[in-house]
Amino acid sequence: MLHMDNFSSLFLSFCTILLLPASSHGKQPENHVAFFIFGDSLLDSGNNVYLNGTGKGDSLPYGETFFKHPTGRLCNGRIVPDYISEYAKILFIKPYLEPGFTDYTNGVNFASAGAGVLPGTHPGTLYFKLQLNYFEEVVKGLKQQLGDADAHKLLSKAVYTFSIRGNDYITLQNNTKATASFRKLYMIMILGNFTVGIKQLYAHGGRKFAFQNIGLIGCMPATRASSRSEGCLHDPTVIAKMNIGLSRLLKRIKQGLPGFKYALFDYYTSLTMRTLHSSQFGFKDGKSACCGSGPFNGLLFSCGKKNGTASGFTLCRDSSEYVWFDAAHPTEMANQQLASLLWDGPSHTVGPYNLKMFFEMA
Ligand SMILES: *[C@@H]1O[C@H](CO)[C@@H](O)[C@H](O)[C@H]1NC(C)=O
Ligand SMILES: *[C@@H]1O[C@H](CO)[C@@H](O)[C@H](O)[C@H]1NC(C)=O
Ligand SMILES: *[C@@H]1O[C@H](CO)[C@@H](O)[C@H](O)[C@H]1NC(C)=O
Ligand SMILES: *[C@@H]1O[C@H](CO)[C@@H](O)[C@H](O)[C@H]1NC(C)=O
Repeated sequence: MLHMDNFSSLFLSFCTILLLPASSHGKQPENHVAFFIFGDSLLDSGNNVYLNGTGKGDSLPYGETFFKHPTGRLCNGRIVPDYISEYAKILFIKPYLEPGFTDYTNGVNFASAGAGVLPGTHPGTLYFKLQLNYFEEVVKGLKQQLGDADAHKLLSKAVYTFSIRGNDYITLQNNTKATASFRKLYMIMILGNFTVGIKQLYAHGGRKFAFQNIGLIGCMPATRASSRSEGCLHDPTVIAKMNIGLSRLLKRIKQGLPGFKYALFDYYTSLTMRTLHSSQFGFKDGKSACCGSGPFNGLLFSCGKKNGTASGFTLCRDSSEYVWFDAAHPTEMANQQLASLLWDGPSHTVGPYNLKMFFEMA
């Protein structure tokens, strides 16, 4: 990322010199849109590298295809927010925990692999509330840097994107002792805390929100591996219900919050289609992971070793032929297709807004 960093500071000083005379130092150009990212491993661009836990893409072959070195992204290359940054012609958004990162004017990535809405989902990750606490620090920093009025302007023009709740669901699914009433309460707590977070961002001026629903977890190589079955597992109706719940919740939130705009991306259908009908989307394999070990290369955390020494796992020759890079995360090629749908896909896949509209909107 050294190259990106140099480019970033060059680019910023160039803009500052060109567009902004000394008197308005720190101001952003009129069309500047910051990008704030919250969520789990699907969006984590490296926060977990700085935490003590599993599930950090800090060894090759993670990152190899595009970055040529591991960055913490659980992918061979770019993840969805990277593609969105490219489409929006902004720089890749840095992980909040990256040492020395203090200029938040382009946005911040708070996502943390394994994170859920609830603290118990994977202790040691940045669960949603911690991500929001860090966001509060960022708001303070922006106000110091830009002044209250310009910070507020930046926050209200910014795009906020989310991928969260999937890990809460997996944890609940894995809890065989959970009773029906516990499950119900758990779901209410997930959505309750999620709503509190959205309202917190809205209170700081946030208006443009993008959400993706939960993917078909039963079709990941990890799930197939644990059951050693060719087919998909889990009761898809539970996820379908959770996803209908999200769609209803967003409509309700919108009614209560004037100016609240959202994009809801049907990640579930988009990824399921690619997994089940891979050849229609240019893939050769939608079932097995490119990198890993065990059935379908689906053993969790089996892909990647320090120093890039290939031992204990296999790596496919061409990751672009696969939907899944590791046991639970799509390849760069799949991410590119998903990102392009989120950017300006058809209205049955992303709506009522899409990210192109958000970034182009004043
Ligand atoms: C991670 O572990 C190291 C060594 O045990 C410790 O010094 C450090 O504070 C821990 N970091 C976090 C973020 O917990
Ligand atoms: C499910 O629970 C078992 C037993 O507590 C644990 O060993 C396993 O790692 C869990 N799986 C996931 C995906 O969390
Ligand atoms: C948020 O989650 C906690 C558990 O971590 C729960 O006690 C609380 O009731 C939830 N809040 C809402 C508004 O649902
Ligand atoms: C790389 O491999 C060498 C030799 O096996 C080992 O001494 C070293 O600690 C490894 N480095 C990392 C970062 O794992």
